[in-house]
Amino acid sequence: MKKGKAAVRIAQLIEQLNEHNHRYYVEDAPIISDAAYDRLLRKLTDLEAGFPDLTAIDSPTSRVGAPPLSSFEQFTHPSAMLSLQNAFSEQELREFDERLHKSLGHSEPIDYMAEPKLDGVALELVYQAGKLIVAATRGDGTTGENVTHNARTIGSVPLALSKPPGFVVPDKIVVRGEVVILKEDFIKLNEQQLATGERSFANPRNAAAGSLRQLDSRITAHRPLSAFIYAPGLPIAGIESQNQFLSIMSKLGFLTNSLSRLCHGVDQVLDVYNELTEQRFELPYEVDGLVVKADSFEIQKRLGEISRSPRWAIAYKLPAVQETTLVNDIIVQVGRTGALTPVALLEPVGIGGVEVSRATLHNQDEIDRKDIRIGDSVLIQRAGDVIPEIVEVVKEARQGNPARFHLPNRCPECNSVVHKEEGQAVHRCTNMNCPAQLQARIRHFASRTAMDIDGLGDKLVGQMVESKLIKDVADLYSLDHKSLSNLERMADKSATNLLEALGQSKQRSLRRFIFALGIRHVGEHIAGLLAKRLGSLETISEATREQYEQIDGIGPEVAASLVTFFSQTVNQQVIKRLTRTGVKPPSVELSDLDSRQALSGKTIVLTGTLASMDRRQAKQRIQDSGGRISAAVSKKTDLVVAGDKAGSKLAKAQKLGVKVIGEDEFVRLING
Ligand code: IVH
Repeated sequence: MKKGKAAVRIAQLIEQLNEHNHRYYVEDAPIISDAAYDRLLRKLTDLEAGFPDLTAIDSPTSRVGAPPLSSFEQFTHPSAMLSLQNAFSEQELREFDERLHKSLGHSEPIDYMAEPKLDGVALELVYQAGKLIVAATRGDGTTGENVTHNARTIGSVPLALSKPPGFVVPDKIVVRGEVVILKEDFIKLNEQQLATGERSFANPRNAAAGSLRQLDSRITAHRPLSAFIYAPGLPIAGIESQNQFLSIMSKLGFLTNSLSRLCHGVDQVLDVYNELTEQRFELPYEVDGLVVKADSFEIQKRLGEISRSPRWAIAYKLPAVQETTLVNDIIVQVGRTGALTPVALLEPVGIGGVEVSRATLHNQDEIDRKDIRIGDSVLIQRAGDVIPEIVEVVKEARQGNPARFHLPNRCPECNSVVHKEEGQAVHRCTNMNCPAQLQARIRHFASRTAMDIDGLGDKLVGQMVESKLIKDVADLYSLDHKSLSNLERMADKSATNLLEALGQSKQRSLRRFIFALGIRHVGEHIAGLLAKRLGSLETISEATREQYEQIDGIGPEVAASLVTFFSQTVNQQVIKRLTRTGVKPPSVELSDLDSRQALSGKTIVLTGTLASMDRRQAKQRIQDSGGRISAAVSKKTDLVVAGDKAGSKLAKAQKLGVKVIGEDEFVRLING
């Protein structure tokens, strides 16, 4: 190809790819498949390889990362990156509002923008002639680190700005925002970290911060970061308010927070705050407050700043998800792989509306690192659906010198020898037939996100294992009314219900079935990849190590674990017996995978309570049917499922003309 022609083709490809990227990462509404995107990207990569001097600054080929740096360059911000004052109560928020009224010398209600305060790391982006030229961290507020190579890998950071009608994009634009990892992505990321033998992250914020400060941007490219833009770094000609800023930024191609609201007066801000408090644990990202900003830029300028915080804004914090309490005891649980997990029994304490009385201590290394002892006062934290964790020990409150805690040398359940492999953090019971392991395997198999067998609780499984009624998961399906009725406290009705639940579970999806098998390193995410890429139980169980490794997201350790699992005769036999009793996960058709599902590609919002399932179940069922869940109703919502006591989301849906269905119709849909 001639150079002139290549230049034209390159420009076209860049524009197309950047547009598709925007649809995928910002609008969450892609119109081409991943494979088609990759084909376009491949064409561009090839052309750039042939004509290296034609590589453009906004080329999406930079999204995969660049060779590592030896250190970060410093970047001086065009204006200081300030921090925010906090308000911890309604009264403090009202005092802020009163201060503003006083300074401005008027009494009519002030217009505020109320925006969720995302808990991530701040990032500044500089665009020249519509192209991203620099990205920098906050640093000390005056000078930060130049992390341009990393920011380029973030899908929601535009490499080139769109040109919306009616707005002339200034030659230079500086914007700021928060880089976060969505909760769902965080769980997947940690699953992958563990699967590839890397350290897991303590929380999404740490993971985001660590990812943004990588010298090797190829690592950053594999971290699921999102950047939400919330403030200009320099005044932008033609933009006069925060509300206008957010709406223009969204038109330029940035991701902005759709929950931001313009409020007329402080009372409306309080309404938004109350709504946020209710929604917080359902939101896709972690939120630690509501940022309240005087909307008018002219007012902002008049109010100015004080001690490195703007006078015109405040962060109204949400109730703490951290509390201090006492460690009453430490017990040891034996998991399905024989892993010994120490668990702290806590003096019960309420956090974010839920009573917490246990926290996982992970393993001996973690206990040693945090130096946690029985009787200690500890700071615990709850983040979203994640199991509560001990953040740190309040050392000043320690009484005397209590003994350090050590995991036992013998399994607390079967007294077999406990072994710790070199280089691994986990202690394991060495007895394959340890009743505690068996019990945990069966509980996992029956759990909600796996085979979802209602009524098979801890106590019941314990009894079944103890009385030798079952010795593996396949035995569950040979249970009958008579054998169940012999169990202690098993009412006739419960036995019937359990048998019915077992019957229903036979039709679970392939993804759930693979996850339910409890293969080491195979969580819900990896199970999903296997189902999607290999299509049937037969192909999955017969694949070679190489075939597993060819799947994007599956590394050598997971592949090895799969091979080991499926090559063991015991496992083969259990699967054979399961299939014989009618547990036959349907194959996934490999072509046209997603579009066959009832809710394929649809964005769904749940509101109110459903009678037949709880939120987690509903969410899982929606995902199983190809849909995705969103916390808030917007024009992009396809469907709102309204249960009992549906509130403001229902009203919003009606206002926007979004389709609303009730529980019955929803159940019909997901059952196909
Ligand atoms: S405005 C001068 N808006 O909170 C304005 N900040 O201390 C300062 N943050 O590190 C920032 N969401 O990274 C603003 N919607 C939002 C925000 C937000 C999160 C972070 C920001 C900063 C911290 C404020």
